[in-house]
Amino acid sequence: MIYLDNAATSFPKPVEVYSEVLNCMENYAANPGRGSHTMAIEASSKIMDTRQELSELFNIPNLLNIIFTCNATESLNIGIKGILKPGDHVISTVIEHNSVLRPLIYLNKKGITYTLLGVDENGYLNINNIKKSIRNNTKVIIINHTSNVLGTVQDIRGIGQIAKQYGIIFMVDASQSAGVIPIDVVLDNIDLLAFPGHKGLYGPQGTGGLYIKEGINLDSFIQGGTGSDSLSMKQPNFLPDKFESGTLNTPGIAGLYEGIRFIRKIGIENIRKHEIMLVEYLVKELRKLSYVKIYGGTDYKNRGAVVSLNIDTVDVSQVGDFLNKNGIAARTGFHCAPLIHQIIGTGRRGTVRISPGYFNSFDDIEKLIKVLKDIHEKRPFL
Ligand code: ALA
Repeated sequence: MIYLDNAATSFPKPVEVYSEVLNCMENYAANPGRGSHTMAIEASSKIMDTRQELSELFNIPNLLNIIFTCNATESLNIGIKGILKPGDHVISTVIEHNSVLRPLIYLNKKGITYTLLGVDENGYLNINNIKKSIRNNTKVIIINHTSNVLGTVQDIRGIGQIAKQYGIIFMVDASQSAGVIPIDVVLDNIDLLAFPGHKGLYGPQGTGGLYIKEGINLDSFIQGGTGSDSLSMKQPNFLPDKFESGTLNTPGIAGLYEGIRFIRKIGIENIRKHEIMLVEYLVKELRKLSYVKIYGGTDYKNRGAVVSLNIDTVDVSQVGDFLNKNGIAARTGFHCAPLIHQIIGTGRRGTVRISPGYFNSFDDIEKLIKVLKDIHEKRPFL
């Protein structure tokens, strides 16, 4: 199978990830922080080492300010629901994923209001519009760093400066960017950074995390055992324990550790260069075909490895099925981001989404183009 669905989850993972998950399962998958025996200590140190790797990757000043979650959706929910109170206002955008939009809709019933800023047809936000939407009660700005539909990369550094200037909390959804596009929480003024472990960081599914800047006080909906302060019936108020009750996904986090090590070994800029080379080539070739409609811009410096397209009037699920039958994995539909489709005119049909990763080659892209041409020329559905 030629896997071109890395925006959903990366595949394959570096071999070191597979072997470390297995090594952990076989040798030290004890309960981290819950005992003083050798295996539990090894599990705890692997988790601490993973926090260390993450803190170096994102320039996070204190590694204890990173909490592990199951995925970016959980991280976003912890951040959004932990910080917002009735009466607060949020600024976000129409290009967000449902992992931001649905919590906002839910919170709206509890007296939290929001403004969703528009984007242009390539998905870019005009950051000057942020200032105009700031109210006295604006508490948080939430921005999707890289769109999972158009690949649009937003200017988080510019937005971070505005947030800082106005004393507003800045939350970034790095679902598509973590591990591929450099993020520096200090320079970008990020207060809350939600990231998945299983996409650009190459960890197994079931891994993710949230960085919470020192001084940002989030409510936690979870209480339980942490292995710390165990005689107290009160949830610890310190990080990461406040948010990490229950047994952590040690094998997953051990795999994530190797995923981040892999990125740092190859170099984030080399991963990005490879992915964007494939995207640029794909877009260039597809633009020669009058029957292919490609969405998103060609400013490759500000575009991630996501290409949404349509072929003639062919239904996206038929395209997806045909690709699958020809050994190509791609995602079709609305990609859990409902509002952006109104802007790009795909509200009724969605898109076929191609998302190459570091392990794809030009040959994979050539094969994809050939199958897309076959769809038009042979009309396999008619
Ligand atoms: N949010 C992921 C995607 O875009 C799952 O496919």
